[in-house]
Amino acid sequence: MFLVTGATGGIGRRVVRLLRQQEQSVRAFVRLTSRYSELEHRGAEIFIGDLHQARDIEKANQGVQYIISTHGSGGDALSLDYRANIELIDQAKANKVEHFVFVSVLGVDRGYEDAPVFKAKHAVERYLVDSGLNYTILRPSGLASNLLPLAEQFRETGLYLLIGDSKNRSSIVSTDDLARIIVDSVKVPEARNQILPVGGPEILLREDIPRIFGQIFNKQPLVINPPVFVIDGLRNVVGLLNPQTQKALGTYRTLLSNEFFCKKEEIANLERIFNFPLETLESFLRRYLAV
Ligand SMILES: NC(=O)c1ccc[n+]([C@@H]2O[C@H](COP(=O)([O-])OP(=O)(O)OC[C@H]3O[C@@H](n4cnc5c(N)ncnc54)[C@H](OP(=O)(O)O)[C@@H]3O)[C@@H](O)[C@H]2O)c1
Repeated sequence: MFLVTGATGGIGRRVVRLLRQQEQSVRAFVRLTSRYSELEHRGAEIFIGDLHQARDIEKANQGVQYIISTHGSGGDALSLDYRANIELIDQAKANKVEHFVFVSVLGVDRGYEDAPVFKAKHAVERYLVDSGLNYTILRPSGLASNLLPLAEQFRETGLYLLIGDSKNRSSIVSTDDLARIIVDSVKVPEARNQILPVGGPEILLREDIPRIFGQIFNKQPLVINPPVFVIDGLRNVVGLLNPQTQKALGTYRTLLSNEFFCKKEEIANLERIFNFPLETLESFLRRYLAV
């Protein structure tokens, strides 16, 4: 039995789909408010709970051999990115789980002080490595599926909002490839007890994204490019009303003002370990946008 957290998220629902295609038994950890009917139709066991509650995590772990942690935190890094994962790892140890796959983030080890999600995930990585469990830690760069709503907007308007340096590099990964890597991590021997950066096959400049949208929709992009300090202004205003959101914006600012890309040799290594070619951003977008 696989336990998947974040099972209704961009990564998690793809992981559940793949596992069910392979006829694996899956327990999907969802909230009562989550949109989980698709997972139920695919034959996943639905566990309704909240990752803020240690008791729910303990119950969800009963009878599990594999844990795949893909949940996000919506700004609550301490409770969800940190505490919930620590609790999952403790439960995995108590239940002698065979393998724990943790979705971290690229750049987690760079010591960004102002990015609570990065700090939480780095602490979880260390806890998992020291746990004695079999693990695979995956550090993805940006996900291609995040760009689908922006592409739809672009299709209508031709507009693209690019905050910060347009020359910053990233290697956006197909969310379907990431899901496949996650699922295969428990059975590919070379993925065992590894920390792997995960990106797409090309190193893109951020300005390449509207260019690719333009190519797909045959439209000249109109790029609006405010400097990253607009986020600082926003943070100062938000901080007066809601300090937690102000902290969450720190992670967002970190993402906007730094480069997140995998080296060519890291991508080659990934393709070798998992034995399939990674998909380009353009191919991913064309598949989903049916163009
Ligand atoms: N998006 C990226 O570009 C990116 C890049 C690198 C790494 N990552 C990491 O990848 C992971 C997944 O990202 P994603 O984009 O797939 O996330 P996502 O689409 O935002 O989904 C987040 C998931 O977490 C669940 N969740 C949130 N709070 C919960 C709670 N209290 N109890 C139970 N479930 C809860 C959500 O459930 P609901 O459906 O109920 O909201 C949802 O299923 C995250 O850890 C993220 O940090 C993401």
